[in-house]
Parts: sequence; structure tokens; C-alpha cells
Amino acid sequence: KESSTVSITVVGASGDLAKKKIFPALFALYYEGCLPKHFTVFGYARSKMTDAELRTMVSKTLTCRIDKRENCDEKMDQFLERCFYHPGQYDSEENFLELDKKLKVHEGGRVANRLFYLSIPPNIFIDAVKCASTSASSANGWTRVIVEKPFGRDSESSAALTRSLKQYLDEDQIFRIDHYLGKELVENLSVLRFSNLIFEPLWSRQYIRNVQFIFAEDFGTEGRGGYFDNYGIIRDIMQNHLLQILALFAMETPVSLDAEDIRNEKVKVLRSMRPLRLDDVVTGQYKSHTRGGVKYPAYTDDKTVPNDSLTPTFAAAALFIDNARWDGVPFLMKAGKALHDRRAEIRVQFRHVPGNLYNKNFGTDLDLATNELVIRVQPDEAIYLKINNKVPGLGMRLDRSNLNLLYAARYSKEIPDAYERLLLDAIEGERRLFIRSDELDAAWSLFTPVLKQLEEKKIVPEYYPYGSRGPVGSHYLAARYNVRWGDAA
Ligand code: BG6
Repeated sequence: KESSTVSITVVGASGDLAKKKIFPALFALYYEGCLPKHFTVFGYARSKMTDAELRTMVSKTLTCRIDKRENCDEKMDQFLERCFYHPGQYDSEENFLELDKKLKVHEGGRVANRLFYLSIPPNIFIDAVKCASTSASSANGWTRVIVEKPFGRDSESSAALTRSLKQYLDEDQIFRIDHYLGKELVENLSVLRFSNLIFEPLWSRQYIRNVQFIFAEDFGTEGRGGYFDNYGIIRDIMQNHLLQILALFAMETPVSLDAEDIRNEKVKVLRSMRPLRLDDVVTGQYKSHTRGGVKYPAYTDDKTVPNDSLTPTFAAAALFIDNARWDGVPFLMKAGKALHDRRAEIRVQFRHVPGNLYNKNFGTDLDLATNELVIRVQPDEAIYLKINNKVPGLGMRLDRSNLNLLYAARYSKEIPDAYERLLLDAIEGERRLFIRSDELDAAWSLFTPVLKQLEEKKIVPEYYPYGSRGPVGSHYLAARYNVRWGDAA
């Protein structure tokens, strides 16, 4: 609106996330004409930097998909002119007051909406929220705060964090980001389920044998060992990214597409889940491995990681939803760093065809005959369905083929980065893709008991070579529930 302005302050502006994701996403939104007419971007961090230095820093990251486009340089210059820097401590009300003064100058008396993106470590989180809310919140518009995980380490610390946050902010000012919710194929999950007749009727224990949520990266914790060692893969990936996808996958049909209706259904399904048992988890940690003359490091080779660290860099888990729709269906998760490839996908394995006339075609391996729906979140976004098909010819031989929707082949427009969608939603006040505090509580309740046991019992992870397929234990775990991982070669 003419009469209002939005100021976006990136707190922790010199950090990795800000450089790699937040500034580029803001620029992409500007490029696409999605930002309001009056906006300013402020970087806030402890280091001394001038506006010009911030602009140079930011401009280095404004490359990737945008820079090949029309008018890119011009738009980049226009965007950078709207970027400023304010040096300050994260716990200094005085420094935030100075920021407030600068923001006011830019706001020029308009209705001032303010968005703070907290891209800072958890130990200084609350101080920054306190200072931002008491000294730099808007006097006549909205003030919203985007917070990044970790939201605590377990149920208790997460609840304490929420309590502290709520001393300074209302729940509707808090935007807890889980960037997986901003990914195109994750958003599409509800479209796939609720706008196609052919999927939803099959979406239950009656037809689905198991569901798999797989996250793999082909690199280690490079440079992030200090953070990672305190959290491990279960907290880093499973409790948030994979569980959020699971909730969208398994929830009942929401009353509407409104944020509260969707989040109500997500909470319901999360609360119907059984807390994960120690027996249903396999953990792993990568060890060094030499391939093609190159030596890849062990997790503990990272200088910021203790030599005797037992922190898992891999985990597989079997989870269950005790409700009418999903009773008895294993929901398997697998997440790991330093594996042989990078992927995030959902695999839905359907039941066997009863009395299958073509059984003899599959020998004893009936698994081969079942349908599987794969939703590949990344890379190479795709949705495909494995079906049995007759191999053309005079004989009767079946094979498995794919009905394939490859995004790159079907859609010419590039897929926006998750942060673009989420930042835009936060500016527009759309909460659908952000985590409500009761969702967070439910998520922690599932994992907290097992996390405590892993730590108290000092469970030694299964070591796997860097670049491998991860611990074999994950196959035994799956086999216990008659499951074969769909991504196993
Ligand atoms: C982050 C985790 O939330 O997600 C990282 O902390 C992980 O450990 C990253 O690498 C993966 O995100 P993406 O979007 O690259 O798959």
C-alpha cells in the first residue's frame, strides 16, 4: 500500500544463512516484483561494516538463477540501494534503539511494518527478541519475527524457549520457519492428495503398506560441526523437516486451506503418533574413507567436534500413527549426511494385489509387484508411480515402469527457493507454512524420550564410510516391519 512500508531486518546479517539464503531470496522477490513498493532491508550484526560493505557482501551472493535474466544488473543495483547496515550487539537495547531511529527515517511517517529475521545462534536468541521487541518494534504497524531452528533440544528446553518468546511476542507475531515447508513438492502434497480423486481413496492402511521419508546428503557437516555436535541428525532433520512432511502426508482433510485449519490437522496427526522407541531407531556416524585417491574425512575429524563424539550423523526410525486411517502402517524415516547421493523423497509402497493373476511373473519376490508412488522433493523434482506393465512382445512378461512427471520437462519456469516463498508469506502474514507452538510441542514429545535414552545410555552409532549408503542396521530395522527401502539399489 502507498501509505505503508515494510522494513526487513536480518539479525545475524554476516552469517552463512543470511548470505546464502536470506538476501538472495529477498532479491529474488524484489526481482519478481513481489515486495511492497516501500521497503528497506537492514543487516544487523556485531561486526563493523558500512552500508557499502554490506552491499558488496550481499551483491556477491545475488547470483544463481537470477543473474542470467533480463535487467538483472539494473534490478540488483536498485535492490542494493535499499539495503543498509547497522552494527550492534544482540543483547543491547541501546543498539536496537539506534536501529529504530534509522528505520524511522526510512519509514518516513508511513505505517511501519517490521519484520525481523533472527539468523543467530540459540544462546543469544532470547536477548535479541527482547531487544528487538522492546526497542525496535513498530509503533503503528505490525512487528513479526522469523525464528530459525533449533527450537530447543527437547520438550523441556523447547517449552522454556516458547515461554520466553511469549514474554515479548504474541504467538501470531512468531514465525517459526521450517524451510522444507517452503519446498515446491512439499507444498504440492496437499494438492496431490486433495485435488485428485485417484490418490485420496487409497491413502490409508487399507492400500498403503508403508511410507518412507528419505533425506540424504552427499557431504558431511563441513564447517558446521560445532552446531551439529550439540544436536545430531534426529534433531537437525527428523524432528522437523521429515516430521513436517509426514504430518502433511498423513493428516486428515482440513476444513479449509486456512492456516489454522491446516495446522489443526497437522497437530492432530502428530498427537496420534506413538513416541519413538529406542528399539525402533538405528544411528550411525560417518568415518573417513578414501576413494579414487581422495581421502574423505570422518565426522570427528572436524576440529570443532570432540574425538569421542557419539553424535549421530545418520538415523533411521520406524514410527506409527495410532489412528483409524494409519493403524499398523510403518512410517519409516531415514536421514544422513556424507552418504552416496543427495536426495529428499517420499516413497509410498502400496499393498500387494490380492490373488494377483501374474504372480508367477514375479517369482517369489512379490515386493516387486507392488506399486510405489515416489515424490522426489529434490534434486530434479518429480512425481512418479511405479506400475507393472507388459513388456511388448509375443510373450507375457511384466516389468515395472514409471508413470513419470518430471518438473524440468513439464514446467519451464524455475522453481523458487523455499526461502522466497516463506519470506513472502511472513510479509503477507500467511502462517500456513510456519510451525505453531502446539505442533512444536507434539513434535518434541515424539522424539524427546529416545533422544534422552540415546544420550544417557551412550549408544554407540554404527560407523559407515563417507560416501556410502549408510549403516546396514537401517535394513534390519526396515526388515523387522517387512519393509524394503525403496531407494536401495
Ligand atoms: C538444515 C539443516 O535445516 O537443512 C542442514 O540444518 C541441512 O543440516 C539442510 O543441510 C538441508 O537443506 P536443503 O534445503 O539443502 O535440503
